[in-house]
Amino acid sequence: MKTLIKNGTVVNATGTATADVLIDGETIAAVLAPGSTLLGFDIESNVDTVIDAAGKYVIPGGIDAHTHMQMPFGGTEASDTFETGTRAAAWGGTTSIVDFVVQYAGENVLDQYALWQEKALGNCAIDYGFHQILSDVQDSSLVAMDELIKEGVTSFKLFMAYKGVFLSDDGQIVRAMQKAASNGSMIMMHAENGSVIDVLVQQYLAEGKTDPFWHGVSRPWQAEEEATHRAIMLANLTGAPLYVVHVSAKQAVEQIAAARDNGQNVFGETCPQYLYLSLEDQLGASSEEWGSFEGAKWVCSTPLRSKHEGHQHHMWQALRTNDIQMVSTDHCPFCMKGQKDMGIGDFSKIPNGIGSVEHRMDLLFQGVADGHLTPERWVEVTSTTPARMFGMYGKKGVIQPGADGDIVVYDPNGHTSIGVGKTHHMNMDYSAWEGYEIDGHVDTVLSRGRVIVDDNQYVGAKGHGNYIKRGLSQYLI
Ligand code: URP
Ligand code: ZN
Ligand code: ZN
Ligand code: ZN
Repeated sequence: MKTLIKNGTVVNATGTATADVLIDGETIAAVLAPGSTLLGFDIESNVDTVIDAAGKYVIPGGIDAHTHMQMPFGGTEASDTFETGTRAAAWGGTTSIVDFVVQYAGENVLDQYALWQEKALGNCAIDYGFHQILSDVQDSSLVAMDELIKEGVTSFKLFMAYKGVFLSDDGQIVRAMQKAASNGSMIMMHAENGSVIDVLVQQYLAEGKTDPFWHGVSRPWQAEEEATHRAIMLANLTGAPLYVVHVSAKQAVEQIAAARDNGQNVFGETCPQYLYLSLEDQLGASSEEWGSFEGAKWVCSTPLRSKHEGHQHHMWQALRTNDIQMVSTDHCPFCMKGQKDMGIGDFSKIPNGIGSVEHRMDLLFQGVADGHLTPERWVEVTSTTPARMFGMYGKKGVIQPGADGDIVVYDPNGHTSIGVGKTHHMNMDYSAWEGYEIDGHVDTVLSRGRVIVDDNQYVGAKGHGNYIKRGLSQYLI
């Protein structure tokens, strides 16, 4: 099966050119000047499929390096399965995800890894890899880190919050970091001071402040800045590379920027919710249906920040200046009915998470339309850097010969209404992005050479997605 994507504007992180892209089987065979011949053969009449991309961007498929499909969490389970979540991702121009294997305290890491492989196998619409969450860091967990690298799991997430669920204490963090420093893997950190947050949560609840708004207030930026700083210091002590997940506070960004100026291998990820949404407008929202519980739709951690403190503006700027390197979704969807509503009367019982896997490419393209990012930087933060950061670059994250045929034809003159009601494809009974209008449109999506979304139709297949055996990070200084 040969496909030619002709006359498009090919956008890589490194630059833009009008070019034809020839895909042979699952792989990009050539990137050519429009209308080129190959060894005397006219290409167009020798391929099975021609896609005319005149006036459109041709970009490497999106890579969402932070998702939680069907994750058991907060007394329930994230509502997207590997099947529904990867299909929704495909709709939005994302052709790879990196999800998280969960090891809760007391569980065996390698057993959990086997379990997650089983959950995903045969179910995914797009390619998928795994990071490993480590909770209590046992002796066997350190041995498992070496074993998992051989399996293509080269990054390990630790938590400084959620005591009794995920939290690792500083000693456990140091032990995992020492191992990462010695085997070349990446430590990912949920950087919030959990002890401080737990006290504030109890105090607000005791005062009768039980609405979702108080979820945000009880997780202040100081708790994020402090934990980010502590993680950076522990990484400095041990020599481990550190990737701070879901950064929302501008003060945490500044800690990351300072560490990078200091020459440390420290990186930051943000998410669309921290670029657009706020404590006041979303967590503080009310509706006819839910009253002041409406804000539960946006309960996630780190929380949405105040719109009066400049976090969102600073985050766009940090993306532009590379103080923050990439954007993932932290896709962790829960329905309002039967899941989020467990927290009516007690915000601490609302399962934490927002679903955005379908909208990340569009929401970040809006940053191009609004003048925050160049098209090249859009590709870089949504695809190229995720590939390099997590050891997939070359096959993923770039349009070049030898890369996987993971390609999105994106129309910068199109329009996408995220819409009112259920117009999305995620398994959620609401949208965190209801009413958002995007000045662009995902036209065609190819995964390893196969068209999986075409002209507002899903034409992919469950099980098409392969496991990505990742290498070590290609982003380290
Ligand atoms: O609220 C969030 N972020 N839920 C997912 C788990 C995590 O901490 O990433
Ligand atoms: Zn987290
Ligand atoms: Zn997460
Ligand atoms: Zn518009």
